[in-house]
Amino acid sequence: MDRRRFIRVIGGGFVVAAASASAGCSQHMPAGAIEPWRGPGQEADVRRWILGYAILAPHSHNLQSWLVDLSKPDEILLLCDLARLLPDSDPFSRQTMISHGTFLELLDIAARERGLRADISLFPEGPFGPSSPDQRPVARIRLVADPTVAKDPLFAQILIRRTNRAAYEPARPVPPDAWAAMAASVKPNSLRFGFAGLDQPDALRRHRAIAAEAWRIELTTPRVIMETYKVLRVGAAEIEQHRDGLFVLDQLPVLMNQFGLFDRNKPPAADDYATTSQIKDFNAKLETTPGFLWMVTDDNERVTQVNAGRAYVRVQLVATAAGIALQPIQQALQEYPEQAQPYAEIRSLLDASQAKQTVQMWARAGFAPPVGPAPRRGVDALLVRT
Ligand SMILES: Cc1cc2nc3c(=O)[nH]c(=O)nc-3n(C[C@H](O)[C@H](O)[C@H](O)COP(=O)(O)O)c2cc1C
Repeated sequence: MDRRRFIRVIGGGFVVAAASASAGCSQHMPAGAIEPWRGPGQEADVRRWILGYAILAPHSHNLQSWLVDLSKPDEILLLCDLARLLPDSDPFSRQTMISHGTFLELLDIAARERGLRADISLFPEGPFGPSSPDQRPVARIRLVADPTVAKDPLFAQILIRRTNRAAYEPARPVPPDAWAAMAASVKPNSLRFGFAGLDQPDALRRHRAIAAEAWRIELTTPRVIMETYKVLRVGAAEIEQHRDGLFVLDQLPVLMNQFGLFDRNKPPAADDYATTSQIKDFNAKLETTPGFLWMVTDDNERVTQVNAGRAYVRVQLVATAAGIALQPIQQALQEYPEQAQPYAEIRSLLDASQAKQTVQMWARAGFAPPVGPAPRRGVDALLVRT
């Protein structure tokens, strides 16, 4: 068995479906798990049609912590599924709130497509405290027929947006007009969008170094890597069963899993080949990365976090339209104590060192071969039964 191949597929920030070297051998993504990417089609219920797009939003660890209550006509109540949090890697659920923002933005864009204005009221019963979400709603959305509502051209990108964890073309810069379009797309939000490209080699070096160290810490902090293992779906059967989380389809780990050789009940040791080779693999990907982007906010309120998610998914849709791949690399932004050093370094690099300033998103950007979609659980799985 080629142990190196096995290790590589679980590296790179998260699990990668390593189709390239083992094409023809890997298991296939089960059709049912990616069925939602065909879109809601002729769905007659307009709220379900809109939600059919919203569920395609990016979410940290692909946890899909969205619940929706449709008990009132013309209204969608968005709640947070408290069983789908990441307390070790995301101790204050900041990234979960960002992931609710991405959902709301796609919901808004889809509503426009149907001539509906989505009146979104965030935290209508008050915002969550700083430590954790609770049972109160994240948003109340009223759908109002409005002939003046404008369609959003980014709608066309929703079904083809992907998080791309591949190696990027190292010498091909993100074109200036693409950076400009991404920067412009966040305008309705009062956050600071920044980017660095091949024309800033010193900055790129700093980005790569901080990301690499943060990833090393993530891999060698047992409770954090175990949190990822808990939502790691190995092979088609597990993916089909869960339709969420991070996945691996490559033949070797699937086989090893079947033979009980891939133990997800304990973290790999810091000097295990499983750890060292993942670090090496991710570093190689960082080396190929010709650009980084980030979003900084002046405070870290719950509303701000949600709005950062709205902005991020717009940026990603704009990037998608320009053929540019993105992968968030959030490890250094995470608030668990072991990340304190990279956390301080990225804030300093991005001029965000003042107390409440927060780097909400940080991502690599570039050109890369296309990748397939990630599983989704479908609209029914989100419905709160009343
Ligand atoms: C707040 C947030 C943080 C994320 N952090 C990472 C990350 O650190 N590394 C990564 O590879 N992907 C990251 N992602 C991407 C998710 O893993 C991805 O959205 C999810 O797996 C679903 O895949 P998709 O975006 O292709 O639909 C993040 C996404 C969000 C919204």
